[in-house]
Amino acid sequence: MPNMHLLKVAAPAVAKKAQPGQFVVIRTDEKGERIPLTIADWDEEEGSLTIVFMEVGTTTSKLTLLQAGDYITNLVGPLGLPAHIDRFGTVVCVGGCYGIASIMPIARAMRQAGNKVISVIEARSKFLLFWEERLRSVSDQLIITTGDGSYAAKGWVGDRLKEIIAGEDKVDLVNAIGCTYMMMLCAEITRPFGIKTIVHLNPIMVDGTGMCGCCRVAVGDETKFACVDGPEFDGHQVDWDLLLARRGIYLDDEIRSLQEWECQNLIDLSRREG
Ligand SMILES: Cc1cc2nc3c(=O)[nH]c(=O)nc-3n(C[C@H](O)[C@H](O)[C@H](O)COP(=O)(O)OP(=O)(O)OC[C@H]3O[C@@H](n4cnc5c(N)ncnc54)[C@H](O)[C@@H]3O)c2cc1C
Ligand code: FES
Repeated sequence: MPNMHLLKVAAPAVAKKAQPGQFVVIRTDEKGERIPLTIADWDEEEGSLTIVFMEVGTTTSKLTLLQAGDYITNLVGPLGLPAHIDRFGTVVCVGGCYGIASIMPIARAMRQAGNKVISVIEARSKFLLFWEERLRSVSDQLIITTGDGSYAAKGWVGDRLKEIIAGEDKVDLVNAIGCTYMMMLCAEITRPFGIKTIVHLNPIMVDGTGMCGCCRVAVGDETKFACVDGPEFDGHQVDWDLLLARRGIYLDDEIRSLQEWECQNLIDLSRREG
């Protein structure tokens, strides 16, 4: 699928302890930066982790070049607090972008805890959808929505969330993972109804263990470090403007880094091809 990739990593110690909602921090090579990626699934017996990532910049582009059997220099985890799983009643699990994969273990655990799980996933177009059957198998109901209407309902997660809230089920909890804007929108839709809405914040992270302060977010009146206090937070309490601003802080450097890396790669390729 364009831009979206699945990575299976052998990491037995992490697979043994992983829980829904947690993430790992990886470094592809000695000079590479550290980036956080959610553990979308794990197999304790096999000792493996499944990660689904979107290719957006230098590090995620480097990851796409890995072949089966290759190594990642470092992988640290599981990090972050596990998702809060309880018997809430009716839980709407929302996933967009890489969040389609990240929400799966949460939906599965919510259902195992006795909740009625309604999963809603969105993509711009049909060809960007994945894990439909996997999500269906862990949900009581799966609702799919595409921005261009090329598959299932036309529209965005917000449209479907409004319909669910207006429907027969009394929604007790919404749990959303995906792009910042989508999570913010979900929180705004549920706010007037007083429906508790959990979001998984994605600020820039470096160490992932509470030491650098890079992942600072404002939630209610408090400053939190998303890596150790989250990434799950109450969406109605999040300062979304601050989060969006801080996520874009290094945009110029990120664009330059990707351009330099792509140029270097082209030079290496042309040398190899003589
Ligand atoms: C807890 C958590 C879990 C995540 N899980 C996933 C996942 O499962 N799949 C997935 O595709 N993406 C996930 N992300 C986002 C992912 O970390 C970024 O897309 C990735 O770091 C981009 O790196 P890059 O070098 O390819 O791109 P860059 O060009 O460096 O960055 C592109 C954009 O990604 C964000 N970003 C860059 N560096 C970081 C960083 N160190 N930490 C966080 N965000 C950064 C910034 O907003 C930036 O503008 C997660 C983020 C967090 C915080
Ligand atoms: S990533 Fe450094 S404190 Fe959270």
